[in-house]
Amino acid sequence: MAPNKSIYTCQNCGAQFSKWMGKCSSCGEWNTIVEEIVAKKQTTGKLSVQISGNQPLTLESIETVKNKRITVEINEFNRVLGGGIVPGSLILLGGDPGIGKSTLALQLALGFTNRKVLYTSGEESLQQIKLRAERLNISNKDCLFLSETSLEQLIAHAEQVKPDLLIVDSIQTISTETLESSPGSVSQVRECTSAILKFAKKTGVAIILIGHITKEGSLAGPKVLEHMVDTVLQFEGDTNYMYRILRSNKNRFGSTNELGIFEMGSFGLREIINPSEQLISKVSNDVSGTAIAATIEGIRPFLIEIQALVSSAAYGTPQRSSTGFDLRRLNMLLAVLEKRAGFKLIQKDVFLNIAGGLKINDPATDLAVISSILSSNIDVAINHKFCFAGEVGLTGEIRAVNRIEQRIAEAEKLGFQKIYIPKFNKSFDDSKFNIEIFRAARVEEVFRNIFG
Ligand code: TYD
Ligand code: MG
Repeated sequence: MAPNKSIYTCQNCGAQFSKWMGKCSSCGEWNTIVEEIVAKKQTTGKLSVQISGNQPLTLESIETVKNKRITVEINEFNRVLGGGIVPGSLILLGGDPGIGKSTLALQLALGFTNRKVLYTSGEESLQQIKLRAERLNISNKDCLFLSETSLEQLIAHAEQVKPDLLIVDSIQTISTETLESSPGSVSQVRECTSAILKFAKKTGVAIILIGHITKEGSLAGPKVLEHMVDTVLQFEGDTNYMYRILRSNKNRFGSTNELGIFEMGSFGLREIINPSEQLISKVSNDVSGTAIAATIEGIRPFLIEIQALVSSAAYGTPQRSSTGFDLRRLNMLLAVLEKRAGFKLIQKDVFLNIAGGLKINDPATDLAVISSILSSNIDVAINHKFCFAGEVGLTGEIRAVNRIEQRIAEAEKLGFQKIYIPKFNKSFDDSKFNIEIFRAARVEEVFRNIFG
């Protein structure tokens, strides 16, 4: 037997070293390096091996298998995956603690009728799972539950049960006996994921792995996890609000543009079919400081309310704060307003808020953001039947945005009367829309039109 070897692995980034250090030289984190024992494989030193098993094939000679997707009860989940779960695929579901991953997984399991599901949890006892299921008020006779943290046991049970879907909550609690390091460490997470992956490919069982997110916002454990799995889903939202968004960051069997929107209520997660209607508050009829943006997340258009509050700075340095919108982008837009449109905002506090606790990355919200700021600054309300879609450039020009017709159609559907869009977007037939379309090349044109 070759002697066992020690390697030192950073628990934050997964970098490996031959000796211990206080600070990881790869990611710069302190005190994250731990010793792990790896058993050395005995090699014979022979290079020539007998060919056995699989042979290389041409494309034509490979059998076509129609991947029959398994559709689940939750339509938003099917949509994000590109039409359902592919058998034999490994799906990683990541998100902050308390965001609702276990709830989503349990709802999936319980809504999975006429097929077998095995739900294994290393985080909660069976009693706790039962309590949660009672709270959700659904039951399912085809669903089996197991509280287990050993990888070997888990796979043995799965082999015996032969489920169509296996749910593992969470990968950080599972550990294998072959490694000495503690559950949740990088090498455990990597080893267990690779064993689970092998099991999925061998048996064709679809597997959903739940994973936690580190404080930096990446899936706990290193990126290797994301490379291994077929699909990476991210469940996000602000725990203070009820809205949750399910995104796919990687999908080997579909597009990553789809998005699922949920609402967390007292009976679990509810799908939101029509997000725009929910995200626009109905009370804010004509109050200054709000503007509606026609945005697109993924490929889904929805309208969202932007709220701004501009007030004289009480202290020397004005405050700029933003929730749901990039603060640097807000500062940039304020500079554009100051320099190009001549508004004096230097001595003003500016607070910006995206209603519903959502985070918006769509640059087309710029025009609504600056309109709301201006509206609050001069204390004149924008008509609540108006909405905006346009990116603002550094010179104050309004830049073209993608999928403009989809945005207009959504605004029209929700009964908006007027939409401000970039002049530089490719022209199309306005008459097919039943909404007034105002094209502007610069921000001043929009302001003049709204505020006179
Ligand atoms: P959970 O699924 O345990 O989160 P995760 O597995 O991502 O850590 O969800 C936790 C939160 O969800 C918890 O704060 C309570 C809330 N919740 C509801 O609001 N309604 C419900 O019906 C359930 C089951 C949970
Ligand atoms: Mg959980």
